[in-house]
Amino acid sequence: MAEEAVLGYLEKNEEISDSGKFAEEKGINHDEIVNIIKSLNGFRLVDAQDIKKERWVLTSEGDLYAKYGSPEVQLFSAVPPEGITREELQRVFTSRLPDDLEEKLKSSIYKIGSTQHSKKAIKNKWIEMGKSQVSRKVQHVDDKVRYLLIQIQNGEVVSSEDIDALKRRKLISSQIWKGYSVKKGPKYAPKRKKVATDLTRENLQRGDWKELEFKEYNFLAKGQPTEGGCLHPLLKVRRQIQMIFLQMGFEEMPTNNFVESSFWNFDALFQPQQHPARDSHDTFFLKEPSTTRRLPEDYVERVKRVHESGGYGSRGYGYEWKREEANKNLLRTHTTAVSSRMLYALAQGPFAPKRYYSIDRVFRNEAVDRTHLAEFHQIEGLICDRGLTLGHLIGVLHDFFSRLGMSKLKFKPAYNPYTEPSMEIFSYHEGLQKWVEIGNSGMFRPEMLLPMGLPEDVQVIAWGLSLERPTMILYGIDNIRDLFGHKVDLSLIKRNPICRLGL
Ligand code: PHE
Repeated sequence: MAEEAVLGYLEKNEEISDSGKFAEEKGINHDEIVNIIKSLNGFRLVDAQDIKKERWVLTSEGDLYAKYGSPEVQLFSAVPPEGITREELQRVFTSRLPDDLEEKLKSSIYKIGSTQHSKKAIKNKWIEMGKSQVSRKVQHVDDKVRYLLIQIQNGEVVSSEDIDALKRRKLISSQIWKGYSVKKGPKYAPKRKKVATDLTRENLQRGDWKELEFKEYNFLAKGQPTEGGCLHPLLKVRRQIQMIFLQMGFEEMPTNNFVESSFWNFDALFQPQQHPARDSHDTFFLKEPSTTRRLPEDYVERVKRVHESGGYGSRGYGYEWKREEANKNLLRTHTTAVSSRMLYALAQGPFAPKRYYSIDRVFRNEAVDRTHLAEFHQIEGLICDRGLTLGHLIGVLHDFFSRLGMSKLKFKPAYNPYTEPSMEIFSYHEGLQKWVEIGNSGMFRPEMLLPMGLPEDVQVIAWGLSLERPTMILYGIDNIRDLFGHKVDLSLIKRNPICRLGL
């Protein structure tokens, strides 16, 4: 309808001089007219020129006064011909205001009326304010302010001095109105022809392509967003942590086997066979192949002995160690399984100190909730050298975690079957304003290291943490299912920023 109105009008008339007036005359919404003008202008059917006009509109305070009168006149009207006390005046003033106004608003109008504008009413010589008595000085006053506001509301012209005065009282503010003046364009037609956007097989067969008008190419149109690959936040944080380990002189351990035997995952770590973590409620065991094929037999023998009766200064656990338990295949529950393989391998040659790290996936048979999944990534670091102490471990943890941006650390004694002493690591989170547990650490037990064949004076300090925890904190994600798994919003993965640790 708007399009017909514009094109039809131009067929008989030279120009639409003001789209606003035109819209009003035709009874069409101005925004609708503007959209049509823009579109017709784009196709050169019309030639549109911007018009901008400054208009005055009432502020909410101005609105109020246009409705109920200016405060100074209200003040005047509240003073009866015989005069009134100041206290009475406020009561009368507010009681005369319409009931539907809030009490707060009423008293603020009174404040304006009786303070700033009582001066006005006094200056205008309308009233006289005595010490306690207020009296009228004239019989009648005109509410010029209200009258001006109503004029402005109706779009009537008001003198510039009056505008200035109202502006100063913040009763009106200016608004830029935008519209168009419109003439015929070079491609004007009383009706827009539908242009073809595509050349079809039918057009070719019918031969109507000869008459068809085709839409021109718009070389400035934005193309489809490109579908590039992108990195998952876990990969970005992993990369950063990897860089930290490399800067600290650590080598990466080969973690490319999710399937591990119970032997390397538990037994080699001096974890007794009755330990609850070895239960199928906690660990995923494999059905096929259910057992491992090969283990280093002489080492297995020493592990069996240390579990059963100890040695190397230990009493052992004093139970009957079963080979079948050790043979069971599982999805590794921690990357410490890889650490045990690496330390065993290290013990087979002449001793050399080592720093190892790994960041890879582990699996636990857990109920899924906001903070737990059945699989996650573990970050693990270990240092193997002669004469290491708990002090070295604490020092390395401070170094490592402060590179991650966590320099306030606390340690709490803990228990792991394979470390003694063991410490849980807590870091003060400035954002959350509390201490959060961020990892676990300890010194590997002699019952673990000596059967491998490492020299007696060699100690291993180690720690582990999840990759998900710091990633969730860094990216402000509070449900792990929003980070990993089938419910993840892919656009979030595409848009998420580069990871910068330690800032
Ligand atoms: N393996 C431990 C865990 O799963 C982490 C850890 C690694 C603890 C090394 C001590 C030493 O939580």
